[in-house]
Amino acid sequence: MLAIIGGSGLTRLSTLAVAHREVVRTPFGEPSSALLFGQIAGRDVVFLARHGHGHTIPPHRVNYRANLWALRAREVDTILAVASVGAIAPTHAPGDLVLPRQIIDYTSGREATFFDGGDRKVVHVDFTHPYSAGLRERCLVAARTAGVKLYDGGVYAAVSGPRLETAAEIDRLDRDGATLVGMTGMPEAALARELDLPYASIAVVVNHAAGRGESAQLVAMDRIVRVLETAIEEVKLLIDQVVKEMG
Ligand code: HPA
Repeated sequence: MLAIIGGSGLTRLSTLAVAHREVVRTPFGEPSSALLFGQIAGRDVVFLARHGHGHTIPPHRVNYRANLWALRAREVDTILAVASVGAIAPTHAPGDLVLPRQIIDYTSGREATFFDGGDRKVVHVDFTHPYSAGLRERCLVAARTAGVKLYDGGVYAAVSGPRLETAAEIDRLDRDGATLVGMTGMPEAALARELDLPYASIAVVVNHAAGRGESAQLVAMDRIVRVLETAIEEVKLLIDQVVKEMG
């Protein structure tokens, strides 16, 4: 079954006909929200609101391990995440949907692994290509079918937040090769890999990153909310089509 992890702007999935909800307990605590089980286009899907249904959990407080564990425990075999980002690369503007191909982890202080010692053998997972090639391809095909513009590729810089970056920090991420910046991409992607769950992320560009484009002087938060409202409609169309492609 496909799971959708919804980020800012996607705390509810209106296209999902909810059949039941479940609060799952895990060895790592409680997930951000109850899991919503239901159907999209007649296919079983489960939805998890990353920041809680009331959008009250900031990125650094999300219990990523509980979220991923709960999904796997409920027969999820694929995860499509949605996350809002700032655009570092000038090729992207607010409103764009991007399917990143790579990620760089700048976060700190987060519980970032299931392999945390104790009496278990040390495990190192391969993470060369952090996103599932198969799921990425399915998203690209779905986007073409649904008539949704989805940019293929990009490097997601995962930062701790919750504050936004300084202009100099964005310059550094740019020099590192990052094209997008967001606060929730890690450890989510790595934990999915540790559980062997194919994972991809739809990045919704909601602002130019600090010091870039319209954000040369400041990042305007009111504009972000408006952009997100519009872009999320496109995301829903895309998700519908991805579900249909899953067969
Ligand atoms: N920086 C970090 N995270 C973000 C941004 C940003 O500019 N926009 C949305 N999430």
